Amino acid sequence: MRPLRIAVTGAAGQIGYSLLFRIAAGDLAGERPVELRLLEVPGALKALEGVVMELNDCAFPLLAGVEVGSDADAVFDGVDLALLVGASPRKAGMQRSDLLQANGAIFAEQGRALSEVAADDVRVVVTGNPANTNALIAYRNAPGIPRERFSALTRLDHNRARAMVARRARLGVDEVEQLTIWGNHSSTQYPDLFNARINGISAARWLGDDAWLNFDFIPDVANRGAAVIAARGSSSAASAANATIEHARDWLLGTEPGTWTSMAVPSDGSYGVPEGLVSSFPVTCEGGDWSIVQGLALNAFGRSKLEASVEELKREADVVESLGLLGAG
Ligand code: NAI
Repeated sequence: MRPLRIAVTGAAGQIGYSLLFRIAAGDLAGERPVELRLLEVPGALKALEGVVMELNDCAFPLLAGVEVGSDADAVFDGVDLALLVGASPRKAGMQRSDLLQANGAIFAEQGRALSEVAADDVRVVVTGNPANTNALIAYRNAPGIPRERFSALTRLDHNRARAMVARRARLGVDEVEQLTIWGNHSSTQYPDLFNARINGISAARWLGDDAWLNFDFIPDVANRGAAVIAARGSSSAASAANATIEHARDWLLGTEPGTWTSMAVPSDGSYGVPEGLVSSFPVTCEGGDWSIVQGLALNAFGRSKLEASVEELKREADVVESLGLLGAG
């Protein structure tokens, strides 16, 4: 079988260091061989060479080839899947709008390059922050790629929330199902336990502790990234790589029947989220396509949380639009 061509940007970074080895070991594409195309800024290519040496030294049977470079048009040529991890880090004193501007230029350029040279059926996952709005910028600058092929990562939030609920309930993570992260991958996200299920009933009801849900669970999920930084001295990397792999694998190979996952995707207007904004929703995947789970009830609390997160997404979209980063797509 032809190897799946997977581009990874920011490949010499922290997440890259976990991600590449897991992909090469077969965690993303199963038994299908993979070819890695690694994009980095010129100053990081030497470090990336070292990572490639280590990849070679693992003698992964499924790794059919590795190419590196700093020219997006060359690296993305013919890729089937693009994992856009590389981004400009948030520096001290930087506002979110400064971060949007710094990253906007990167994602506009990468969207354009993918549109021109990637495989016709390419799928694009944005992990680099601010992930939702970076995905919006990328698809708006990629007129040759249907916008449904772009998504952003909220799977790490999903996994964090699921694990926290399982610990609280003293159950295995498998017993917590149908959890949803709604909205933005930011502190405004809404992890929904009302529609989540434990043993077939609402997880919020099963736990029966609204105080924990409001004052511990929701803030802890939203602030988990900061807690990891405080403890580890650097941001989540192995868990972010794991989430990126699970997101891409579910997209390409399908979600488990009977349940769903959380993915940030361009809205089709579902649940009142304005069309085109990249928001996290409950999704199922089949045959390489995602669809938003329809018909879930959001109570007044959930609706107000989702609306607040969507307001933030709108503000981010306004900022990048005013910076001329939304192209014509
Ligand atoms: P890092 O700083 O260790 O690595 C980022 C890499 O991207 C660097 O090697 C840098 O040279 C590279 N890079 C910068 N601009 C680039 C460009 N134009 N093209 C190609 N490469 C470029 O950061 P880390 O820890 O690997 O995180 C990467 C991103 O993922 C960050 O934006 C981080 O905030 C985000 N993240 C997102 C999560 C999510 O759940 N959506 C979770 C954790 C991190």
